Amino acid sequence: MKAVKTALPGPRSKEWIAKKERYVPRAFAALAPFIVAKGEGAVVWDLDGNRFLDFTGGWGCLAVGYSHPRVVAAVKEQAERFLHTDFTAMMYEPFIALAERLSALAPGPTPKKAAFFNSGAEAVENAVKIARFYTKRKAVVVFEGAFHGRTLLAMTMTHKAKPYKAGFGPLAPEVYRIPFVNEYRCDLPFAEVERKLVSLVAPEDVAALVVEPIQGEGGFVVPKEGFLQFLRELTERYGIVLVADEIQAGLGRTGHSFACEHFGLEPDLICLGKSLAAGLPLTAVVGKAAIMDSVPEGGIGGTFAGNPLACRVALEVLEIIEEEGLLQRAEELGQQILDRFRKMQQRFDLIGDVRGLGAMVAMELVKDRATKEPAAAETSAIIREAIQNGLVLAKAGLYGNVIRMLLPLVTPEEQLEEGLNILESAIASVVR
Ligand SMILES: Cc1ncc(COP(=O)(O)O)c(C=O)c1O
Repeated sequence: MKAVKTALPGPRSKEWIAKKERYVPRAFAALAPFIVAKGEGAVVWDLDGNRFLDFTGGWGCLAVGYSHPRVVAAVKEQAERFLHTDFTAMMYEPFIALAERLSALAPGPTPKKAAFFNSGAEAVENAVKIARFYTKRKAVVVFEGAFHGRTLLAMTMTHKAKPYKAGFGPLAPEVYRIPFVNEYRCDLPFAEVERKLVSLVAPEDVAALVVEPIQGEGGFVVPKEGFLQFLRELTERYGIVLVADEIQAGLGRTGHSFACEHFGLEPDLICLGKSLAAGLPLTAVVGKAAIMDSVPEGGIGGTFAGNPLACRVALEVLEIIEEEGLLQRAEELGQQILDRFRKMQQRFDLIGDVRGLGAMVAMELVKDRATKEPAAAETSAIIREAIQNGLVLAKAGLYGNVIRMLLPLVTPEEQLEEGLNILESAIASVVR
């Protein structure tokens, strides 16, 4: 039976979308033209009974999929016990147990501690606050192509001006941007990056260098071999706190608990979010204990930071990842997607690059393989076409010309195959 049975939006979704346009601000524009009724694994159904594969995984939050029975049970159990105290008023077990678990899981031999927040942007801002307090320095170094969120400091650290920064200034001071070396668009010698850094800011004034080990919103940009190790050496030389923003890449998506493990890297601080609590708002900064403990009592935190429900679910998520072998599954999914994307690249000149790490795989679309002129309109058209045929896909990239896979790691074989077939047909129909 056809997965999408009505024109989109269907009649019931249409009623709600009309209300949404009346009451919800324009900024909350949605990718998919329907209203969700229910989700299970990698599948969602809309109010009109249409079925879609969700390869955006709720923008990378659903490593364990929609409505995992163990997550649902954990939510019920915790809700029946208590939903809130504020940890700084009265402490509770899930917060401490999760800090213990993440500290043990984080890469490297140095003892770690973990702090919790509500959004990725908040985790990034707090990592910078901790680094500033620890180093007694002010400057922050970030990368071209970076995405770190939408609050004042995080949007300043984010690269793409529209829609994230334009019109929202003045931006935060003391943020400096350097190139992210990668093979497809920015193959610079590492020494050139250091030269750029020291010409922008005195390294002795830099508190933190914040890097996504593989860039997410920037288009799943994989760093050139040796680049992250070079950044580790550089930050050690100048006493800069190295912050890995693994909000998108962490927690299994690349086939390791932390993307940094691919590079044998022990960052000073790591930001986590997205899949941590299966879609409940929970993020973390996990870092070297001496750095984390430099901040005095009350210096970081927040009313809902590390709320009991989200921490309880996060503990469940970490167990599910381990017990269901989702790190291994991420590798397998990633390999199959890479193979299939490479075949598609042979078929369509539109696909300029195929790249990824674990299940974090993307294709970059270009009008011309020699000039690499971004094919943004074609990318949007492919995504629209795929949705009409039952597959929701995420776009990415500084130029909006990357299709990235953020599918749940629990996606079964037949749904992976089904999704990739829909994508290939969508590309064929747009190329035509
Ligand atoms: C690498 C990275 N950092 C930070 C953020 C911001 O997270 P949030 O939207 O939860 O504030 C994101 C969100 O996509 C991200 O991918």
